Amino acid sequence: MPLHVSTHPLVAHKLAILRDRTTEPKKFRELVRELTWLLGYEAMADLATRPEPIETPLQQMTAARLEPKVGLIPILRAGLGMVDAMLELLPTAEVWHIGLYRDERTLKPVEYYNKLPDAASVQVCLVLDPMLATGGSAAATIDILKQWGAARVKQVSLIAAPEGMATLSAAHPDVDIHVAAMDSHLNERGYIVPGLGDAGDRQFGTFAGPASEPGHGPDEETAEVVRRLQLNLGD
Ligand code: PRP
Ligand code: URA
Repeated sequence: MPLHVSTHPLVAHKLAILRDRTTEPKKFRELVRELTWLLGYEAMADLATRPEPIETPLQQMTAARLEPKVGLIPILRAGLGMVDAMLELLPTAEVWHIGLYRDERTLKPVEYYNKLPDAASVQVCLVLDPMLATGGSAAATIDILKQWGAARVKQVSLIAAPEGMATLSAAHPDVDIHVAAMDSHLNERGYIVPGLGDAGDRQFGTFAGPASEPGHGPDEETAEVVRRLQLNLGD
C-alpha cells in the first residue's frame, strides 16, 4: 500500500502541539508550515534526478539536478497553509489551486474553483490538504488532475482517518499518500478523531459557534454516510 506515515520524532512533537485545543491560529499556522516542510522532504525523497556537469571553485564534477517539473495543488482553503513551506523546498514549482468544500450534511466535495490550463504542465503533482477525512476531497481533486493529464500524483496531508485512506487508495491505488499520523476513526459528523478539529477554521480563526464545532451532535443523514464508510472499511 503506498501509505507513508512519518516516524520522525520532530513530526510527532510538532503534531502534538498542533492538535492541542489551546494552540492559537498564529502558532497553528507556523506548525502547519513546519510540518509541511518535514513531510514534503519525505514525500519528495524518490523524485528523479538527472546528471549535470558543473564547475565548483575547485574542479569540474557531475552533479544531480531535479528532473521532473513539480506542481503544488493546494485544496482551498486549508491547503493554502502548506504552500509556502513547499515553495521553500521547491522554489520553481508551479502552484495550481483547486477550490472544494465539503458539504456538511452529505460530506461530499463541492467544487467551486478550478483554473487549470488545458493540458498538464507538470510531471509530478503534490496535492496539499491537512486533513484526509472521508477522502472525498482528495479523490475528487485527483480525478481532476488525472483528467488534466497529470502523470504522477502524491497526496500530502497532516492527519488521515482510516476511512479516508481506504477511499482514496481504492479510487487511486497508484497515488502515494504521505501523512504525519493515521488517527483512529471519523465521528458521526465526519471529523477525524482524535484529530485537531477543523483545519481551515483553526488556521484562519473562523469559528462559527458551538453548533459548527466538530464534536457537536450528529445529523442523522451525515451519521449514515459515516456508518457506510466504516462498514466498507470492515470488508
Ligand atoms: C476540509 C479539509 C479537506 C476536507 C477533508 O475542508 O481541509 O479539504 O475537509 O474532508 P474529506 O476528506 O471528508 O473530503 P473543508 O471542506 O472544511 O473546507 P475549508 O478548507 O474551506 O475549511
Ligand atoms: N476537515 C477538517 O478540517 N477536519 C476534520 O477532522 C475533517 C475534515
